[in-house]
Amino acid sequence: MPNSELAEMVDTSDEWIRARTGIGERRIAAPEETTCSLAVNAARAALDKAHVAPEDLDLVIVATCTPDYANMPATASLVQHALGAPRAAAVDLNAVCSGFIYALATGSQFINTGAYRNVLVIGAEVFTRILDWRDRSTCVLFGDGAGAVLLQPTDTPGGLLSFVLGSDGAGACSLYVPAGGSRQPASADTVAERGHYVKMQGRDVFRFATRVLPDSVLRALEAAQLTTDDMDVLIPHQANTRIIDHAVRRLKVDGTSVFSNVERYGNTSAASIPVALCEAVDEGLVQAGSTVVMSGFGAGLSWGTVVWKWHG
Ligand code: UT7
Repeated sequence: MPNSELAEMVDTSDEWIRARTGIGERRIAAPEETTCSLAVNAARAALDKAHVAPEDLDLVIVATCTPDYANMPATASLVQHALGAPRAAAVDLNAVCSGFIYALATGSQFINTGAYRNVLVIGAEVFTRILDWRDRSTCVLFGDGAGAVLLQPTDTPGGLLSFVLGSDGAGACSLYVPAGGSRQPASADTVAERGHYVKMQGRDVFRFATRVLPDSVLRALEAAQLTTDDMDVLIPHQANTRIIDHAVRRLKVDGTSVFSNVERYGNTSAASIPVALCEAVDEGLVQAGSTVVMSGFGAGLSWGTVVWKWHG
């Protein structure tokens, strides 16, 4: 969906959206598609690339804030069944836009302890289903998508070098869906009040994001005993070009490739980093031996950064 289409729905313009966010278009899932179906497509592509059969999966983690069912079951269980992975445990992880980073750090622990050998980590969202298409301050920002990675043990040193995860629940209502949970269960009133859609204090989130993104990148690099000079590729959460540019200025990174595809997808929440990672790999930006820093931030408020030595 290009910006021009949104300009027909709400009082906005291509110029405003591009200037304030860097977004030019976003993908909208077809009516029959769900978070599960997008996740399964991404998962199959990752398994094919890794030459691993679904039967060999030990664990499926789906990072999402737009699960197929609001409360139960977990979308990961649906994905596990659709893939045909009978041995795999399955669990959803919701840290919203930081979800993929949390899931990557979590999945890596099972690999590092030797408990599991094949862990599938997926970030998937049909975020456009929780958008209020009458609210120009949010509906122009988000899109749908999914990305997946397969984690395995290896003798080559590298992989996850460090991680930083964080949360500040004081900012919970800066970005949230008020109704539909146990605090405000669904009712005719909550529907009439449009309480099942995303509400956001954009400026608060912007201030938070521009602070936390560079801070957590620096802390994660320090934890890996590295500096920005060692960072080959930075893959930030794809929310807004201005947030990314701000972070790059603060980090003073010259020799680092900073990946961005927000122009084409908008903010796909937990899917943004794995989609960007896959494109960065396909474009040859991330290569065997690259030090890749991936950093997410979003509702919670939450944040997470991993430093990853890519094996290829
Ligand atoms: O994963 C994390 C997800 N969240 C984010 O990344 C959001 C972070 N925040 C942002 O990216 C920015 O705050 C926005 C892009 C959401 C908004 O940019 P801003 O520069 O902070 O604008 P603003 O909210 O201060 O609004 C400026 C003006 C307002 O009009 P007035 O009050 O100055 O007359 C808004 O009503 O822009 C207006 N506005 C719009 N105008 C045209 C808000 N949305 C739109 C729109 N089109 N879509």
